[in-house]
Amino acid sequence: MFGKKKHKTKIDKEQLELIEYAQKRIKQKKRLYIHFVLFLIGAVFLILANTVLGIGKDFTILGINWFVFAILAWLFLFVYHFINVFITNKFMGKEWEKVQLDKLVNKQQQRIDELKANIVKEERKIAETQIQNETQDTQQSNSEKKKASNLTIIVAAGENNAIGKNNDLIWHLSEDLKRFKTLTNGHHIIMGRKTFESFPKPLPNRTHIVITRQKDYQVPFGVTVVKSLEDAIEASRSDSQPFIIGGGEIYKQALPLADTLEITRVHADFPEADTYFPDIDKTEWKEVGRKTHDADENHDYAFSFITYERR
Ligand SMILES: NC(=O)c1ccc[n+]([C@@H]2O[C@H](COP(=O)([O-])OP(=O)(O)OC[C@H]3O[C@@H](n4cnc5c(N)ncnc54)[C@H](OP(=O)(O)O)[C@@H]3O)[C@@H](O)[C@H]2O)c1
Repeated sequence: MFGKKKHKTKIDKEQLELIEYAQKRIKQKKRLYIHFVLFLIGAVFLILANTVLGIGKDFTILGINWFVFAILAWLFLFVYHFINVFITNKFMGKEWEKVQLDKLVNKQQQRIDELKANIVKEERKIAETQIQNETQDTQQSNSEKKKASNLTIIVAAGENNAIGKNNDLIWHLSEDLKRFKTLTNGHHIIMGRKTFESFPKPLPNRTHIVITRQKDYQVPFGVTVVKSLEDAIEASRSDSQPFIIGGGEIYKQALPLADTLEITRVHADFPEADTYFPDIDKTEWKEVGRKTHDADENHDYAFSFITYERR
């Protein structure tokens, strides 16, 4: 049941080829040897035929007996046979063929590798160009978006940044109100719920956007209510210059997003204030315009209209 496995003599294809080749070489060499013997016998026979038997005794070429030429011709054939067996076979035999084939295969392989490397390079280039194009497109559309919407903060603030008290302004400056009306006319005005409530009624010819966290905040017809500053900016996307008009909470959140500041700087301190504008970082903002107005019978304080643009 558990008998020993019979050991089979296994000759693989390569070994078989080698054996066949060796047999072929032996045959070739045998034939060459027979040819050599025949040549020797033949040469002797030709010499005897001419000299002893007198065959073609009178036939000479350039004064030399014909058998010399016959032997030379045969010798030539033998040498050719010899060369075939020992030299041509060596150079153009199976080994030689194999080496040549290997060389060719290697060359082809190299070429394929080069082509593959080129394809990879090309693919990488195409991918890089696509990424570059996409980045350029994104940058372009971002800058287009930015250009399309110049988000502007408009505010009147004291020297101490005061802007209001008890949900109302601290001063009455008619020139400032005029300027506010002129600048915001026809635009979206974004405001916090408290600022909206400080108005007796919505301002004419402006689109009001009121920000509140209240779910059912009721507003007059035409006023838009949103739940965040981002939503307010989104709602005013059609406007090339939407204005952030206050108050303190909304200014604070909008300052990092704004492109332009229209400040009315009231040249006085208002320590009684309860609402303030954030500090303007002069490393981020550059002054691009200023117009000063002195105090007079209609204006209790001197003030300056200052325009800042983001650096
Ligand atoms: N000097 C000026 O140029 C100027 C201009 C405008 C206003 N002001 C003054 O500023 C004062 C009002 O400012 P304020 O800071 O008290 O109030 P506000 O900024 O006008 O409004 C605050 C309200 O906005 C809503 N809100 C704020 N951030 C929000 C967010 N991220 N998401 C959703 N809702 C948000 C909240 O409404 P809910 O509580 O309903 O959720 C919050 O109570 C007043 O005194 C006014 O006169 C001065």
